[in-house]
Amino acid sequence: MSCCYVLDLRLAPRGVPPATYAYAILREMGPGETMRVWSPEEPTLFMAQLQNHMRNTLVWEVATDGQGYLITLHIRGPHEPLALGDTLRREHDDMDACLVRSLALVGAGRWTESVAEVARLDRTLRAHILLENDLLAPLAVREAREPTSLMRREHDDILVQLDAIQEVCQAAGESCAELDTWLGLLAATLNKHEYREEVSLFGLWERASDRRGAALLDEVRRRLSPAGS
Ligand SMILES: [Fe+2]
Ligand SMILES: [Fe+2]
Repeated sequence: MSCCYVLDLRLAPRGVPPATYAYAILREMGPGETMRVWSPEEPTLFMAQLQNHMRNTLVWEVATDGQGYLITLHIRGPHEPLALGDTLRREHDDMDACLVRSLALVGAGRWTESVAEVARLDRTLRAHILLENDLLAPLAVREAREPTSLMRREHDDILVQLDAIQEVCQAAGESCAELDTWLGLLAATLNKHEYREEVSLFGLWERASDRRGAALLDEVRRRLSPAGS
C-alpha cells in the first residue's frame, strides 16, 4: 500500500477517543483511498473500533519500530469485495440496525410498521442461521467443535424466539408491549451470540474459505440478503 497522509494520534484533542478522531478524517475520504496513522499504543482495540465505525470496509497493515505503531489503512473501493468475515460482520450490523428500528417503532406504538420491520428481520436472520449451520459450520467443525455446537444451540434458541415473535405479530389484536418484550429478549440473545461467533468462528471460517477459492464466498454473498432491503 502506498499513501501520503499521516494522522498522528498523539495530536488528538484531549477527551476525544482516538477512533473518533481518526473517523472524523476517514469519513471525508472516499472508497479506494489510503491513509497512515501513527499510534503510540498497540492498535488492536483502536482498529476494531475504527473498523466498526467504517462498517468493515477497512484493510490495514501494522508496522512497529518499538516506539509506536504505523498503521497503513485502506478503504475498500466499490470493486474490492469484502472478505468472508467482514461480509458476515456487516450482516450482523445490518440485522442489529433492523432490530433497533423494530424496537423504536414498537416503542412508539407504530404497530403496522413494526410488524413489517420485524418480518424483514425474521427473513434475514433465518437465512443467516441456515447459511452458518449448513455452509459455514462444516468448514471448521474439527478445529472449533465446542464453539460450533454452542453456536448451533444458540441458533435453536433464536429460532424459538423468532417463532414466538411471529405468533405475536400474527395474533388477532395488536400487542406492542408483548412484542417489545420479545424483541428485547432477542436483542440480548443476539448481542452475545454475534460477539461469540465473530471472536471464535469467523477467523477459522475465513481461512477455510480462502483455501476453497472464490466459489464459497460467491455462494455466501448470493445467499445473504441485506436486512435493510
Ligand atoms: Fe449465528
Ligand atoms: Fe452470524
